[in-house]
Amino acid sequence: MKDKALPVWPQGTTINSDGALQLGEHDVRALAEEFGTPLFVLNEEDFRGRARAFRDAFQTAFAEIGSDVDVYYAGKAFLCTAVARWVIADGLRLDTCTGGELAVAARAQVPGAKLGLHGNNKSDFEIARAIGMGVGRIVLDSLPEIDQVVRAAKHAGRRVPVMVRVTTGIHAGGHEFISTAHEDQKFGLSLADGSAMRAIESVLSHGDELDLLGIHTHIGSQIQDSAAFVVSARKLLELRAQVRERTGFLMPEVDLGGGFGIAYTAQDEPVDIGALARELAGSIDALCSELQTPVPRISIEPGRAIAGPSTVTLYRVGVVKPVTVDDAECRVRTYVSVDGGMSDNIRPALYGAEYSAKLANRQSNKLKVRSRVVGKHCESGDIVIPDIDLPADIAAGDLLAVPATGAYGRSMASNYNMVPRPAVVAVKGEQARVIVRRETEDDLLALDVG
Ligand code: LLP
Repeated sequence: MKDKALPVWPQGTTINSDGALQLGEHDVRALAEEFGTPLFVLNEEDFRGRARAFRDAFQTAFAEIGSDVDVYYAGKAFLCTAVARWVIADGLRLDTCTGGELAVAARAQVPGAKLGLHGNNKSDFEIARAIGMGVGRIVLDSLPEIDQVVRAAKHAGRRVPVMVRVTTGIHAGGHEFISTAHEDQKFGLSLADGSAMRAIESVLSHGDELDLLGIHTHIGSQIQDSAAFVVSARKLLELRAQVRERTGFLMPEVDLGGGFGIAYTAQDEPVDIGALARELAGSIDALCSELQTPVPRISIEPGRAIAGPSTVTLYRVGVVKPVTVDDAECRVRTYVSVDGGMSDNIRPALYGAEYSAKLANRQSNKLKVRSRVVGKHCESGDIVIPDIDLPADIAAGDLLAVPATGAYGRSMASNYNMVPRPAVVAVKGEQARVIVRRETEDDLLALDVG
């Protein structure tokens, strides 16, 4: 039976006849036994289904207005060679932002033309590597970077496809929705102070080395409604029309970035991707008629919305400690310690991100008590879930499962307190295979040269 009360679990998650959580064909008890904990369990069908759903929803909606869409999976959410191969096989492209991510793409034999490279401070090495791989686009983030890429293009004897990243003044996601003329942040070239236009003109003046594909913006993350995307599309389309007026050049493409929100807890209501794609296509069509410009090719860069919901973290419970708190809400809070924490999920500490959790190895009919899930690190802020009701009999040896950890969990993991980073196991049908192996103490010590 699918656990309908918990929409945050990957597709095919059930409770089996023993009362244990079952991820597809796999009982979490067996997974924990075989691969150890903490463990990221990624449901391959869920991940790939979401990737294809993005591609299909956007391509269908934009075909209606005579345009096409490229979906770049944002590898920063979670990247390894298996994932890089999946997204390419499923008709997406891959967005990278460092030499390391390019190295993964190279190892996975991703065709260079399907790669994008971002970054506000790209090194000459990263740029040369991307050009050497035949990168599909470098997204320029500053005026000095234009000269940097021109030099690299001359050196390589290649004309490099580029986009210009624009700061539109819109910031969306999380709890705020602020629309201001200026953004005090490090990315992109400002619309308001004219540096975006200057960058575009500069790129056009280097036509022998640079091939201007278009403009890009990324407005934020975990965005749960469509309004901000429509506003940012308008800003980019207006700029595109101005560029045509000024220079006669019509940029073929507009990239709307990523940021599509997901459900971390049952309270979150992310936008429906199909509805968002249709709404965006409708707005872009209307705006383009208003501006008397043809509809551009569109690209988007979802990361979290593909990787996030696919993955569950399995932790083994250790010390369970009642702590007297005596606040207005409760007298005692049960601290449930797990064998990972801020080294495999920094998001609660960094952003106050909220997660849910479930006793995973068995059902309990005991009363639920006010609890706090904490990690094993030497830091009191090492909290996975600050406030959650868990069965009163939860005890050392139990398994706790935390859903929606596929994005920015393993990819932001650290070795704080010399804790080895967990493995990632992909489940598909009866198969469960390690796609990123668990770090060992030898791995940690390998960097320590005495
Ligand atoms: N494209 C660009 C240019 C980006 O900077 C990002 C995210 C994305 C796409 C993908 O965004 P997504 O669809 O995954 O929201 N570590 C933070 C998120 C930082 C995202 C930075 N850029 C977190 O854990 O929430």
